[in-house]
Amino acid sequence: MIPLCIPNLGGNEARYLQECVDSNFVSSVGPFVDRFEADVASATGAAHAVATTSGSAGLHAALTAVGVGRDDLVLLPSFTFIASANAIAQCGASPWLLDIDEATWGLDPQALEVALTRETERRGDALLHRASGRRVAAIVPVHCLGLPCDMDPIIRVARAYGLPVVADAAAAIGASYRDRPIGQLGADLSVLSFNGNKTVTAGGGGAVLSNEASLAARVRHLTTTARVGSGFDHDRVGFNYRMTNLQAAVGCAQIEQLDAFVAAKRRIARQYDVAFSELLGVRAFPTPDWARSACWFSGLSWDGRDAEELVPLLQAEGIAARAFWKPMSEQVPYRSAPREPTPVCDRIWRSVLTLPCSSSLTSDDQAAVIAALRKALERDAEVE
Ligand SMILES: Cc1ncc(COP(=O)(O)O)c(C=O)c1O
Repeated sequence: MIPLCIPNLGGNEARYLQECVDSNFVSSVGPFVDRFEADVASATGAAHAVATTSGSAGLHAALTAVGVGRDDLVLLPSFTFIASANAIAQCGASPWLLDIDEATWGLDPQALEVALTRETERRGDALLHRASGRRVAAIVPVHCLGLPCDMDPIIRVARAYGLPVVADAAAAIGASYRDRPIGQLGADLSVLSFNGNKTVTAGGGGAVLSNEASLAARVRHLTTTARVGSGFDHDRVGFNYRMTNLQAAVGCAQIEQLDAFVAAKRRIARQYDVAFSELLGVRAFPTPDWARSACWFSGLSWDGRDAEELVPLLQAEGIAARAFWKPMSEQVPYRSAPREPTPVCDRIWRSVLTLPCSSSLTSDDQAAVIAALRKALERDAEVE
């Protein structure tokens, strides 16, 4: 099988792990954790990075840090991985589902503004969702497939309504927007993931980025059981979300290779785009000229068709292709979440096919994927 997206562990990973064992620093305090945080901050242009056990944990801590709480609503694009919605639910809040735009497949700034203008009203300090009376507490844009959302208008709307922004940047390390790196896009907090299928992995892990020292300190406090001093004093409900030195050791070795990994991912994406540009009914993933995707996943969208149909045809040829996210509006836990119309998401999500795109993918393997997909599409055309 040519795998979809696997780790590329050819650097200093084993050596740094051995250092953890030799030094007896395997837990959540250790030199690799500090170094990983500094490396992540520097790679993303953020002033501060707080390493966490996972991206999901980072999202939960970040939302808690900006004050999301019980019964609140948080604006979220319906097209995302379920971890973004789950983090909101873990705060006792609900996602308020919005549409994505064609240009990025991320949160549509216009849909955001329309929803806030039509559906909310201010009462004292609080912004309330008129229909339910619930407080609107934050906005979570999601950088889909490693491509930044159109952040300037999103931030402008957020400021106008006094709402904090927690960006789900799980797969966006290495991306840029209007020549700014992912930690400099105006969000109060941005959250990365380092799970096994991400461009840079720590085995599992996450990081919360901030440009404000006090907010980063609040996240750090929350992720370390809100402990005060060195005894058993805790000043609020906190979480045990700190990354371990073992995870950070792998993360440090990986981040040393970030530029090479992102370059490889972009090359793979370009090859697919070129190979499929002539095929009827096939569209490349969005590539607006004002952002550079980190190309976490490569693939295509199969105009108006169900990408799931292609998966078994490719698997039969030894290729691990997959359909992509199913929207939150379709997920059992969020069926009754408040929502606005999502025509773009509804049209796109079934058509997205992800293709092998590990940074270690060889050109021979990519050529095999391209040939197999052409064959599958031709077979489909014959059946029709
Ligand atoms: C958009 C998005 N958000 C959140 C996450 C959760 O990250 P983690 O798996 O590190 O918890 C992922 C992971 O794939 C993701 O793609």
